[in-house]
Amino acid sequence: MKTEAPTTPAITQTGERHLSFELVARQSHIMLHGKPASVLTYNNSFPGPLLELQEGDHVSVHFTNQLTAPSNLHLHGISMSPEEDKPHQVVAPGESLSYAFTAQAGSAGMYWYHPHAHGSVTRQLFEGLSGPIIIRGEADKLPALASATEKVLVLHDIQLENGHVAPHTGMDWGRGKEGNLVLVNGEKMPEMQVPTGLLRLRVLNASSARYYHLGIPGKQLHVIGMDGSFLEKPVAKETLLLAPGERADMLVEAMEAAPLALLNMPYSRTPAGPSTDTPAGGAILATFAVQGAPAQVELPGKLVEIPALDLTTAAAHKTLTFGATMQPLQFTIDGKTFDHCRTDLTARAGTLEVWDIVNPMAMDHPFHLHTFPFQVIAVNGEAVPYRAWKDVVNVPANGSVRIAIPFEGFTGKVMYHCHILEHEDLGMMGNLEVL
Ligand code: C2O
Ligand code: CU
Ligand code: CU
Repeated sequence: MKTEAPTTPAITQTGERHLSFELVARQSHIMLHGKPASVLTYNNSFPGPLLELQEGDHVSVHFTNQLTAPSNLHLHGISMSPEEDKPHQVVAPGESLSYAFTAQAGSAGMYWYHPHAHGSVTRQLFEGLSGPIIIRGEADKLPALASATEKVLVLHDIQLENGHVAPHTGMDWGRGKEGNLVLVNGEKMPEMQVPTGLLRLRVLNASSARYYHLGIPGKQLHVIGMDGSFLEKPVAKETLLLAPGERADMLVEAMEAAPLALLNMPYSRTPAGPSTDTPAGGAILATFAVQGAPAQVELPGKLVEIPALDLTTAAAHKTLTFGATMQPLQFTIDGKTFDHCRTDLTARAGTLEVWDIVNPMAMDHPFHLHTFPFQVIAVNGEAVPYRAWKDVVNVPANGSVRIAIPFEGFTGKVMYHCHILEHEDLGMMGNLEVL
């Protein structure tokens, strides 16, 4: 992100910050990978500018649609009232709409924004519309984190033909289109200069369908946060899978002046079908030229407290099942394609629910719920060994995921859907009403 989002900050007498951001969606002519390209941008930037917030901030985002088609803005993962999220409301060309929320205590994490006009989400995002949001909290001030070098990495693939974004073909709608140009902050394989010490990588998968299986040869990824929260303490991993819509916050120990490469390792999200285009040894996403004297690094200890949810108090257990129909190709949840006017599920405000999300299909689907963050309890029946507040979870092919959702803070109608956006546009979405 070369551009900072234009903000108008105001501090009230009580010391509270009120921030307002302007985002304008338009067709822009920019240079991508050394060639002129006509893509969609927010504020002429691909990806869109970083919105940087602190817990407690009162935020409004003023969106203007300068595209030739209806669009709107969704602040993905932000716990905000359904009336403010309003993903059903589209903004006609030339019109504007504002979205307001308060960055809640405990919500320090990474979020993002993208269009949500049902039926055209995939193409508008694939053609360039996405941008990162970071909310900072107390844990960001811990010495280990305050001294780390932070890099925000937005992963967004695209495909160009004669300077324009390549169209989707029939096949792309089933599998989800993976662009052949994998970009990190709008660049192919960028090299970043970083000093020795702790490197903090904040990665957003802003692709409409591509999965990223992250790894750094010779290093462990010390995961400290996922989606909308920190983890309680760092969790070391060799690789980390990031499905569309997911975010990861990771520390890397860069003790010596030696280059590091962030790779996308092979992963098959359609185990029985066509495999990934990633070479066996992995594809380079970005490199870090680490420079400076050898440094001692110390990982942080305790980061935050994430409450353990008592599932025996759950007011309801629900099962959601993914599916699809052929001719016409449509994707379904519980046998139904999306209908804006239908309420598919209801829940009571103030209660905890446990949902089993069942995927009998031969491909992975990332499940996303608006407004209400959840904890992932188990994947394929295996307990998840750490707690985090998430809003996207990958449901593996022929597998299932169990999540627990406290319906706190808001009432109203929210959406849940697959975050492979082709599937969302083709009906893999439902409405939940919290009463
Ligand atoms: Cu990131 Cu309803 O979406
Ligand atoms: Cu969302
Ligand atoms: Cu899907």
